[in-house]
Amino acid sequence: MVTILNHPLITHKLTIMRNKETKTKDFKQNLDEIAGLMAYEVCRDLPLKPITVETPVAACHTYELQNDIVLIPILRAGLGLVNGINDLIPTAKVGFIGLYRDEETLEPHEYFAKFPNNLAEAVNLVLDPMLATGGSACAAIDMIKKRGAKNIKLVCLVGAPEGVAAVEKAHPDVDIYLAALDEKLNDKGYIVPGLGDAGDRIFGTK
Ligand code: PRP
Ligand code: URA
Repeated sequence: MVTILNHPLITHKLTIMRNKETKTKDFKQNLDEIAGLMAYEVCRDLPLKPITVETPVAACHTYELQNDIVLIPILRAGLGLVNGINDLIPTAKVGFIGLYRDEETLEPHEYFAKFPNNLAEAVNLVLDPMLATGGSACAAIDMIKKRGAKNIKLVCLVGAPEGVAAVEKAHPDVDIYLAALDEKLNDKGYIVPGLGDAGDRIFGTK
């Protein structure tokens, strides 16, 4: 299932990020804010379990989240989505996947992996602003499935139809959330119109 989060605030902030004149500070700040807004929607259907707590007045039969949440940013650019979501879910644990895309072949290469030990029971949110060919997202999802993850959601800012199709084919059980579905990839594997190289724009490396 693919969900495009058509919210005026998300669209407005994404427009700022797309603008090539937007500098690192504003790029990061808007990404942070969008991440929080997206988390609100991505978590809408999380299961709850009943619990009774004592208020200062009486027993209250209420609910709490049934599952732990694990945030799994794909380094580097995925780091830009962590803080905004963690602010809303401060109990979330964080795992890390280091992948870079070879500029010639566009194939992802793994260079780091570190996870909490509750992937099998948790709702795992894989985070990456860009879903281009889908190679990185598919590799990341493969990595956490090998470690037992079952409940997985992929949270990206901008997707290309090619990337969505690749994830849907390889991992039909994974729900995909996007702030925008763009037109296509160019011959260098960049999303058109996209927002350029997310990692470089977040970290100021170009
Ligand atoms: C970018 C982006 C994704 C990947 C998307 O990362 O953040 O991880 O490319 O492309 P794909 O869907 O074709 O795999 P990059 O490899 O440039 O690394 P970086 O985050 O360190 O800049
Ligand atoms: N990675 C990026 O950062 N941007 C793109 O458009 C494609 C892959």
